[in-house]
Amino acid sequence: MTHRIAAIAGDGIGTEVLPEGLRILEAAAKRFDIDLEIEHFDFASCDYYLEHGQMLPDDWFDTLSSFDAIFFGAVGWPEKVPDHISLWGSLLQFRRAFDQYINLRPCRLMPGIKSPLADREPGDIDFYVVRENTEGEYSSVGGKMFEGTEREVVIQDTVMTRTGIDRVLKYAFDLASKRPRHKLTSATKSNGISITMPYWDERVKAMASHYPDVTVDQFHIDILTANFVLHPDWFDVVVASNLFGDILSDLGPACTGTIGVAPSANINPEGKYPSLFEPVHGSAPDIAGKGIANPIGQMWCGAMMLEHLGHEEAGKAIVDAIEQVLAAGPEQAPLTPDLKGQGTTQSLGKAITEALEK
Ligand code: NAD
Ligand code: IPM
Ligand code: MN
Repeated sequence: MTHRIAAIAGDGIGTEVLPEGLRILEAAAKRFDIDLEIEHFDFASCDYYLEHGQMLPDDWFDTLSSFDAIFFGAVGWPEKVPDHISLWGSLLQFRRAFDQYINLRPCRLMPGIKSPLADREPGDIDFYVVRENTEGEYSSVGGKMFEGTEREVVIQDTVMTRTGIDRVLKYAFDLASKRPRHKLTSATKSNGISITMPYWDERVKAMASHYPDVTVDQFHIDILTANFVLHPDWFDVVVASNLFGDILSDLGPACTGTIGVAPSANINPEGKYPSLFEPVHGSAPDIAGKGIANPIGQMWCGAMMLEHLGHEEAGKAIVDAIEQVLAAGPEQAPLTPDLKGQGTTQSLGKAITEALEK
């Protein structure tokens, strides 16, 4: 069976790390006899916008719907196009139109990497952020009034639906019940945000009644961020609204040394639409063009994509190869500068791919 993959590099370091993701995907496909057909697209980038006046071609939905998965780099280049235009015109459209309501973001301290948190070892930080990915604080409900006057008002509502909350909670509880610790943490802010957040808590309680084997705790987001730093070992599966999940999924990987290693899977669990795999990080204009971006986030996305397509063994082999090279440390392996090494995007990508081929 052939898996058709749409590859979209986007902007900045997206164009540098995507080829390394494809490098390891091709090697894994060869080793595990998987038939991947990759097609490249130049839309969903700021250069495409400058040429066409829009981020996507008119037929993007039909074009991408025909693929089994989307392998994505990063989008955004604020000096060329304002972020809200480039992001709402591409990635955020994909997540909604393809009903990718789960954003699954693993966070793991890998062997060989020094956490910025003192005395933390691999095993101390190993959890998943399950982020609601289609509603919540990322809503298009709102507007601007009395523009240009002293009475200017801007409003943007949070939208939470019972269906939207329950389906992400169900996914997170299912995941927690499969993990050895059977633990789920929910992030809200019910003391300050008095309607939507208590409602989320209510739905967590209702869902928990179906999972007696899962231990549930709940934190307000402010103290939760403190606990990510002070007690990262408390967490196993952390479920959160769109915005809180976004913040936690940069903070978590930062505690594992660098956001450059963090992958994410934007999943439509029913398989009605293609799921999208992209690193957590953005286009990093500050290092773009230097060839030093860490490709591991993108390569780990390749592993998540293969697992999603039913090739668990191949996905695991990619993660093993990443861990093996990281464990060698910056003296032995060409780790990128964010990992205190002197390697380049390509040399690290190649070293990990060679480890997979062995
Ligand atoms: P960013 O993630 O691009 O960069 C933040 C910092 O992390 C920078 O110092 C960068 O150099 C570093 N960094 C990021 N990825 C790295 C990697 N692989 N290796 C080494 N260092 C890495 O976040 P930002 O600066 O807030 O955003 C830049 C642009 O990217 C904006 O346009 C933003 O909207 C966009 N963005 C896109 C996505 C996405 O496509 N999913 C995600 C986040 C931000
Ligand atoms: C992410 C990014 C996006 C988000 C931005 C670029 C819109 O930060 O994927 O984490 O907020 O979801
Ligand atoms: Mn983010």
